Amino acid sequence: MTLCTCSKAGSTTVAADPIRTRPDNFELRSIDLEPVVAETPLPALRPWLTPTPLFYIRNHFEVPELEVDDWSLTIEGAVDTPVKLDYSSLVRLPKKTLPAMLECAGNNRSDLSPKVPGNPFQDGAVSNAIWGGAPLKPFLQQAGLSPNAVEVLFEGGDEGAPVPGGKTVKYQRSLPLQVALHPDTLLVYEMNGETLTPDHGYPVRLIVPRWYGMASVKWLTSIRVLEAPFVGFFQTDRYVIEDDAGIEQQLAQMQVKSFVSWPEHETSLPVGQPIAASGMAWSGTGPIRRVDVSIDGGETWQDAHMDESSLGYSWQEWHIDWTPEE
Ligand code: MTE
Repeated sequence: MTLCTCSKAGSTTVAADPIRTRPDNFELRSIDLEPVVAETPLPALRPWLTPTPLFYIRNHFEVPELEVDDWSLTIEGAVDTPVKLDYSSLVRLPKKTLPAMLECAGNNRSDLSPKVPGNPFQDGAVSNAIWGGAPLKPFLQQAGLSPNAVEVLFEGGDEGAPVPGGKTVKYQRSLPLQVALHPDTLLVYEMNGETLTPDHGYPVRLIVPRWYGMASVKWLTSIRVLEAPFVGFFQTDRYVIEDDAGIEQQLAQMQVKSFVSWPEHETSLPVGQPIAASGMAWSGTGPIRRVDVSIDGGETWQDAHMDESSLGYSWQEWHIDWTPEE
């Protein structure tokens, strides 16, 4: 018998109402209030879709107050003709919706040994939503890219001093040109079927599927095509790691990862009663084909059932049938 506890099982209300946005008595786990940083509680990671109020939040600065009536976005820089875009024109265009998970590059930081500075995220700086918006590519094409264009720079409406007493900077991140031109790199105004909320980038944010969350710039105010790689705090000072040869590399696509969401640590389970231990897995480069699970500390491994094939850019749920013997 297969005991499927995944969110697609008919027993959960999530399956009946996939764009459900009401939380089920859970709250975000607050890590910081100014600016807001909060992670998704473990039970809220079990459904395939994360309700918007429980989607993790990673803000570097205070949320900027942007209104749709005043909001516009200009695509400029190394282009033939700058393109100006306002909110009402954007939402009138054919809408593309796609499921995509975001994972903060600092997810599971609190598990690292030795400890490193930064928000002490446990497992919850990761969430999955359905995003609605318009692909960026046609706007870049309309502007006419310089043959020397190499990157596209995105700027958020938020700013502050990331280092206490240091220089004030805006949140800016660039993407390689081919990633900006990917048909699923979106200018997003909807999350889980509702207008984007202020914490998640209202009125318009970027969604870059498969990349760590820092690339999905919120509260977009400007887009600039560049002929040289961008140098900036959130690009070249942060979100950079040393590779095995000691060379600094900018973070980009998510690394392959899997995760147990049930049972939680230190859950007591009855001996002799079958359960489905479950979790999810993802990668920044393609679908997950196989997850191996060990229940004896790595002595033996078994193939997990993959509960579904990859859907959009979401994580994939898996489970194993297991009867605890002691
Ligand atoms: N965009 C702006 N403008 N400012 C930010 O602080 N944080 C980034 C990214 N986009 C950030 C931003 C980081 S580090 C992450 S992990 C994701 O947004 C988090 O998106 P979320 O808060 O909607 O989960």
